[in-house]
Amino acid sequence: MYLRNKAHDRARVVVASVCVLAGLFMFSSRRAEAHREEQSSAVEARKLKNPLTGDAATVEAGKKIYQRNCAGCHGPGGKGDGSMALSGGTPSDLTDDVWDHGSTDGEIFMVIRDGVSSDMLAYKGKLTDEQIWQVITFIRSIGPKSNDNKL
Ligand code: HEC
Repeated sequence: MYLRNKAHDRARVVVASVCVLAGLFMFSSRRAEAHREEQSSAVEARKLKNPLTGDAATVEAGKKIYQRNCAGCHGPGGKGDGSMALSGGTPSDLTDDVWDHGSTDGEIFMVIRDGVSSDMLAYKGKLTDEQIWQVITFIRSIGPKSNDNKL
């Protein structure tokens, strides 16, 4: 009886260790996957370049798109004072030099195309790539000069 219990205990220890190891393995491989995803989106963002020049017509087209789609939350002047964010998010001030989700055109493109929260939704399917670049050109035109990087 005693011996059988001991064997049983040993089996339980083995099963528990296998579970812990499997859990660790799954956890670390998922982390590696998340890391790879992060890296691949950073790589994609780096490749994306605004194909438009910042001429007045592009800025004007971007402004119209902005007023229709973005001003409700980000405010008429981009200060983040539009007060329409319904899911509790704080719309970013698009005129300051703080970029929580990346400051390059490519990173901003991905924020607008893919979305980042239940307030800042994806505009993929609502705006064409060209319209997104136009709105980015407009945002650049109201932002500080130091932000005007076209990496
Ligand atoms: C329903 C409200 C809402 C609308 C509409 C909206 N946004 Fe946002 N936006 C947010 C919120 C909230 C955040 C902050 C998200 C976060 O960091 O959690 C944000 C973040 C952003 C950011 C990231 C800023 C940073 O600091 O990195 C950009 C760029 C942006 N929005 C552009 C736009 C553009 C362009 C449009 C229109 C096409 C738009 N947003 C429409 C609510 C909105």
